[in-house]
Amino acid sequence: ESEEHTTFVVLGASGDLAKKKTYPALFSLFCEGRLPRNFTIVGYARSDLSFDDFWERLSPGLAKVSAFFGNRSARHRGMSHICLSPDTFRERCSYFRGQYGSPDDAARLDKLLQKEHEAKFARANRMYYLALPPSLFADAVRALKPLAWSQKGWNRVVIEKPFGHDLPSSDKLASELMAVLEEKETYRIDHYLGKEMVLDLIPLRFGNVAFTPIWSNHYIDSLRITFKENIGTEGRGGYFDKVGIIRDVMQNHLLQMLTLVAMERPASLLDEDIRDEKVKVLKQIGPIKTEHVVLGQYTRSEDGKTPGYKDDPGVPADSQCPTFATLVMFINNERWAGVPFIMKAGKALEERMAEVRIQLKDVPGGLFGELARNELVIKVQPNESVYLKIYGKQPGLSNEVVQTELDLSLHDRFDIDRLPDAYERLSLDCLNGDKRNFVRTDELREAWRIFTPMLHTIDGLAGGDATPVTVHTYPFGSRGPPDSDALVQHFGYKQTTGYTWKPKKKG
Ligand code: BG6
Repeated sequence: ESEEHTTFVVLGASGDLAKKKTYPALFSLFCEGRLPRNFTIVGYARSDLSFDDFWERLSPGLAKVSAFFGNRSARHRGMSHICLSPDTFRERCSYFRGQYGSPDDAARLDKLLQKEHEAKFARANRMYYLALPPSLFADAVRALKPLAWSQKGWNRVVIEKPFGHDLPSSDKLASELMAVLEEKETYRIDHYLGKEMVLDLIPLRFGNVAFTPIWSNHYIDSLRITFKENIGTEGRGGYFDKVGIIRDVMQNHLLQMLTLVAMERPASLLDEDIRDEKVKVLKQIGPIKTEHVVLGQYTRSEDGKTPGYKDDPGVPADSQCPTFATLVMFINNERWAGVPFIMKAGKALEERMAEVRIQLKDVPGGLFGELARNELVIKVQPNESVYLKIYGKQPGLSNEVVQTELDLSLHDRFDIDRLPDAYERLSLDCLNGDKRNFVRTDELREAWRIFTPMLHTIDGLAGGDATPVTVHTYPFGSRGPPDSDALVQHFGYKQTTGYTWKPKKKG
């Protein structure tokens, strides 16, 4: 490895994503000792900044990481763990001012890397992290690939959504990119694929024969994937209004979770085997029907203190943009025929959480009277856990049955003081050339195929006799519009009352 050098080039280095996610993720990997021995990070952006000014911008994000690792090394005093400060990391970083898509700047970058960093190494790798708006992706790689690709190692490009706003625009972006890049060089991030419990779905399903027989329409009645945030768009409304909640989190993050829950067993754990299975199950999902969709937009909170969506600067007064949606899809194969896959997502709701909830069928026979259904819950955040809601005997002299759970709460069961951020995990995967947690071009296409007709109807682009979808309102901090509960009940989901799972130890 000492023969090898790796450069991370962060394009858009002065922007928000780089500041909040990319640099803190790389710094965390550095503190964990997971970056290669010989590495350099070049921040590439258009702004005329000195290195000190640039570093100043990154500092708050890095300080959070070093506060954690600083505490940890204090707790582990006496052990050989060394706390690595932002200063030692800083020595590996530099700032490069350039235009995206400029051949001159790409050539200048290449020369700089070769001369300053790579000359004495037999191998040199380059990871280009495009923390840029997607409209700049194609231009950026068109300049970089012919002029700033390493000739003696791998080159990888990391990109992040939005990948278009419907199937045609996504196809256009993909064909522009793929005209330059090879699939093996392309790492499309969906950061939910880097979350601990999402990564746990494959081991849970395929490492436990206990779940195999129940994992189908024989025992599963419905499946719910929920995403809630207890904050609104908070000044991002101008951007959000062109996107809406469905494109923002459902077509990508929630669909990724659904795919991992529903796919067949992959032939191996190799990236392409996993991604093949994901594409296969997506192909069996028909386009979502508008009658299976409930939309909502939040208004001022009931106490009048928190502003509504339309109060966010940049949001048009007549906006019909959904900040909440519940929708239902079906998978047309033998395993899943008839099982509703319900997705619910919203901003400005009563809590922050994400989970997959698999509701099993009723217990036949009524031996114990009416029982709530078993549910297997995979809690993605907060309090990462898997639990199965079950019945057991009330301990003691009573003969009553009570609802309880088999509970694997990660922070309780394992000696972990920190779960890595999704971006940290995915940056490491990219460094290792492991593509299983990145979205392949055909996978992205299938995701858009499922959502596009419905999105076009909502946007009023569908033409013909398509009826517009009502956007219900809901107050900030509520559970969302009541029509959502009605839709979910219509598809057979039974709400458990009088029982709440309580996390043992806070994550
Ligand atoms: C992003 C969305 O992809 O995911 C945001 O654009 C959303 O609107 C975020 O807030 C949620 O991610 P997390 O990791 O905070 O659940």
